[in-house]
Amino acid sequence: MGKYIIEGQRKLRGEIDVQGSKNSALPILAATVLCKGVSVIHNCPRLLDIAATINILEHLGCKVKREGSTVIVDSTDITRYDIPENLMHEMRSSIIFLGAVLGRLGKANISTPGGCEIGLRPINLHLDAMEKFGVELEEGHGRLEFTAKNGLKAATITLSFPSVGATENIILAASTAVGTTVIINAAREPEISDLADFLNGCGARISGAGESTVVIEGVKSLSGTEHTVIPDRIAAATYMGAAAITQGSVTLRNIIPSHLGSVISVFEEMGCDISINGRNLTLVAPSRLQRVKTIRTMPYPGFPTDLQAPVMALTSVAKGTSVIIETIFENRFKHVGQLARLGAKIMVDGRTAVVEGVDRLTGAEVVSPDLRGGCALVLAGLSAKGTTVVDAINHIDRGYDGLEDVLSSMGANIKRVE
Ligand code: UD1
Repeated sequence: MGKYIIEGQRKLRGEIDVQGSKNSALPILAATVLCKGVSVIHNCPRLLDIAATINILEHLGCKVKREGSTVIVDSTDITRYDIPENLMHEMRSSIIFLGAVLGRLGKANISTPGGCEIGLRPINLHLDAMEKFGVELEEGHGRLEFTAKNGLKAATITLSFPSVGATENIILAASTAVGTTVIINAAREPEISDLADFLNGCGARISGAGESTVVIEGVKSLSGTEHTVIPDRIAAATYMGAAAITQGSVTLRNIIPSHLGSVISVFEEMGCDISINGRNLTLVAPSRLQRVKTIRTMPYPGFPTDLQAPVMALTSVAKGTSVIIETIFENRFKHVGQLARLGAKIMVDGRTAVVEGVDRLTGAEVVSPDLRGGCALVLAGLSAKGTTVVDAINHIDRGYDGLEDVLSSMGANIKRVE
């Protein structure tokens, strides 16, 4: 497993392009299964999770080619409807193939995704929704066999929680179901709108994506299309964090600033100066970050759980005490113990972390507990005095395309050691 070696306390400055969104690219690539034809997806980041998704597509019978950041998927012939356990486990969000495979073939056989480092990640909302479409489920030996004997029938589905993955699976299954599906209390994340834009380009009839009520009129079939994935708002905020924690500055080129609303207000509360010029955003950090009174992770447009760990790194060196409440995942504080090794003062009680900002972190050897937790350790290492070694960066490779290259271009001293 690779490591990052970081020499901290360098001010990062620069103008950077932000990768395409991982959380958009994954469901869009899965959605190509629904299209009888060729889909051309631009701006796909180079990530372990994207590679795992491509492995699943190839297993199902798609022909996949990558040309730079473009992935071309020919889904004319889908030959299988099963996803083997090893491929399911390579990527936890592989459950997103369920709606697409069912929509295309009327059956699907997958393994139970299982828990992961940030929590149990149950799939009850996905399963309940599929049942509403008239899908039968047989369970045994860790496998789930889904069959829609008479095809998928549209339904009105009310989600008890606006789950991102469940909303995506319902949109996928509904796109070619017979009749009109309505999702009530749908997730409103920008990645949902991106998926709907892709599917509408393929001939689907989806309206209201990005709002709480989404309406999907089922169509007979979908064809391939060309689509550009939206910029990754989590990666964008991570690079804002890298500039902020090192008293530096950064301009992010070609992002969608409105996707960062709740994030921008947190950076402003910490004393950062943020200006927006069209699709460019510039952040200039203060000489010392200020505490944030309270951050509560929430479904979009609230503060994203994926930035809870990176922002905790920032609060650990801010002036004053910050309170961070994690409401989305039950086990997303594994980075706390590692940040403490660098000198952070954090107390956790259940879903609440109280972070007492210290004057300075000091380098140490730490281990990435998960994707965003690993990224928090990198940010902490950039600000720490001395050398920080971040181990198990395979977690970070799941979500960041060339993290060390982007940070180096901003002046960081960070090396990857395999
Ligand atoms: C997606 C993102 C992930 C992000 C998360 C929340 C992708 C590939 N991943 O994950 O980066 O952190 O949204 O913004 O897009 N839940 C249930 N039952 C279900 C489904 C979910 O109880 O059937 C719970 C989960 O355990 C969790 C919460 O709902 O506590 C949110 O999960 P969800 O919105 O589904 O997240 P993901 O789609 O897995």
